[in-house]
Amino acid sequence: KNKIIIDADTGVDDAQAIMMALADPNVEVLGITCSHGNTPLENSCKNTLRVLKTCNRLDIPVYRGCAEPLLARRLHAGDFHGKDGLGDVPDPNAPGLELLQKMRAAQAIVKMVNEHPGEVTLVATAPLTNLAVAVTLNPNFTQKLKALYIMGGNTESRGNTTVCGEFNFVADSEAAYIVLNRYTCPTYIATWEFSCRNSLPWSFCDTWLAQDTDKARFMEEIYAHTRKMVQTERYQKELVSGPGFNTCDCYAMAAAIDDTLLTESDEVAVTVELQGTHTRGMMVLDYMDLLKKKHKVFIMKKVDQEKFKRLLMNSLK
Ligand code: BDR
Repeated sequence: KNKIIIDADTGVDDAQAIMMALADPNVEVLGITCSHGNTPLENSCKNTLRVLKTCNRLDIPVYRGCAEPLLARRLHAGDFHGKDGLGDVPDPNAPGLELLQKMRAAQAIVKMVNEHPGEVTLVATAPLTNLAVAVTLNPNFTQKLKALYIMGGNTESRGNTTVCGEFNFVADSEAAYIVLNRYTCPTYIATWEFSCRNSLPWSFCDTWLAQDTDKARFMEEIYAHTRKMVQTERYQKELVSGPGFNTCDCYAMAAAIDDTLLTESDEVAVTVELQGTHTRGMMVLDYMDLLKKKHKVFIMKKVDQEKFKRLLMNSLK
């Protein structure tokens, strides 16, 4: 089985990505580590447990991660994901935080990877704080990772949080810098522009949510707030491929689940801008090799959309 660790700041599209992994029979989710990000850390932990409960998978260990970025000021996306991070439709019977593991996220990541050297894929759909702490604690562990998939950053200075910055990289730019400069495993990045170019028709979203299952009803409920917001003209203008349903975290997850999904990528050295009035947090792509970096990453360019849709449909079955 494909062993996956998910690092998430569980908001709505993180929930979609987690459910995609849980639904795949070839995937074994070793654990979910939670981060600050879309919503404060406590919510992100609660939301993760709620998703697991919906999928009847509370057996998967959940770890509390960093509540703050390394250096930057805290940033959340309550407007987008709802104040509670999951569309503000609370579940009175949601599982409590006593279910969290005692070990903290960064240590747990290192431990799980060390237990299965060469076999673990890490999928990061949050600001990269937990991953940066993990590599700081244990600089060599990334050699033992099979691969790292990140949703974050941008390729054309098209921001969604600042003029040039994508949310996960702006929310902890120093962590993004550390991860892109110290992780040595094969690394795949689903950037903001990539997901904007690959939005799906709203009619697909309707069919996806109309499935007669508890998971689909849960998703319809938690997605209602975000959907209302993303269907406004201001937001739909951002989507390069035309208006549609954009579930960014799921692209990183889908590529990690099925290694035939990604059909085109650019292999290039990258780093993150840490200064700059408008450019802090922006991903920098070194196509001319001026940084002389040995380690290159794969910037996702094209995926098989039919396979992607199938994975999404299955996630709510
Ligand atoms: C990213 O930021 C978050 O709002 C989403 O969950 C996704 O991880 C998109 O910029």
